[in-house]
Amino acid sequence: MKAEILDGKRVAAEIRAEVAKSVEQFVASGAPAPCLTAVLVGEDPASQVYVRNKARACEKAGIEGRTHRLPVDAGQKELLALVNELNTDANVNGILVQLPLPAGHDYDEREILDAIDPLKDVDAFSPINVGLLMQGRPRFLPCTPHGIVQLLHRSGISTSAKKVCVIGRSEIVGKPMAMMLAQKSGSCGPDVANATVTLAHSRTADLAATCRDADILIAAVGRPKMITGDMIKPDAVVIDVGINRVDDKLVGDVDFDAAAEIASAITPVPGGVGPLTIAMLLHNTLMAAKLQTGR
Ligand SMILES: NC(=O)c1ccc[n+]([C@@H]2O[C@H](COP(=O)([O-])OP(=O)(O)OC[C@H]3O[C@@H](n4cnc5c(N)ncnc54)[C@H](OP(=O)(O)O)[C@@H]3O)[C@@H](O)[C@H]2O)c1
Repeated sequence: MKAEILDGKRVAAEIRAEVAKSVEQFVASGAPAPCLTAVLVGEDPASQVYVRNKARACEKAGIEGRTHRLPVDAGQKELLALVNELNTDANVNGILVQLPLPAGHDYDEREILDAIDPLKDVDAFSPINVGLLMQGRPRFLPCTPHGIVQLLHRSGISTSAKKVCVIGRSEIVGKPMAMMLAQKSGSCGPDVANATVTLAHSRTADLAATCRDADILIAAVGRPKMITGDMIKPDAVVIDVGINRVDDKLVGDVDFDAAAEIASAITPVPGGVGPLTIAMLLHNTLMAAKLQTGR
């Protein structure tokens, strides 16, 4: 195999240890431990696993992780009331509503996310936090793209003046990813900013040629192995955000074996981008606690 494996697990462990140390100092200064509250509606098994993993990661970092469970049919009003209660609870620093909300029960996801106090919005989905990122003065950064930026930075990969292609334009990954890399100055300084970014999607004409032009290719689509070897420029850096379950195995959006023969560096699935998302959530929770307590 030609490509260097970008070890997201290792970088995430490094970030989690840094957050744990900062939490320790924060608490030693007399502040209460930061508190992240997850809201879980319904019994979706994958969502339950995600929420449990987040709570465990909190605990290891010295952050209090709480979970509020609502029945699948609690309804929009009850969920909104809970969010508002958490907004005013001074003991809660970060609020996370686990998505997706159950289908077929008339939940308005956007209304719920808009209701979260922007100072407690550790997922960075509120219009205020999205707007601040657009304007190049971010407060919280969305966890998955922030994790990717950290991975690139800590692996010594500069995006400055590079051609980056992001495939997928979701609010959670693709759009903020493109915006972060196009900034004049990024969360890790100019080495992971100043890229020339193409944001590709399902209507992109000749996706293969668009991908082949990229020095850094970031796939966030949700289609197993759709990025084939012939879509990758020799020596490109390939970041695979996709998590797809195929025959009880997790695979990415990139055909890993083929890509690893062409790229200079690549993230595996699992063990690439995934672990970084939780690490950045911990980072944002500590940041929220600091913002709210003025420390
Ligand atoms: N590692 C992590 O922590 C993490 C975090 C979040 C998501 N994920 C994974 O990342 C993947 C993407 O998630 P998401 O929430 O960002 O996705 P999403 O909201 O489902 O959006 C998918 C995007 O892919 C585009 N797309 C679909 N088919 C395409 C095609 N044939 N060619 C080009 N573009 C195509 C869509 O284009 P249109 O806009 O034109 O429809 C859309 O913009 C999923 O596998 C998800 O599980 C991983």
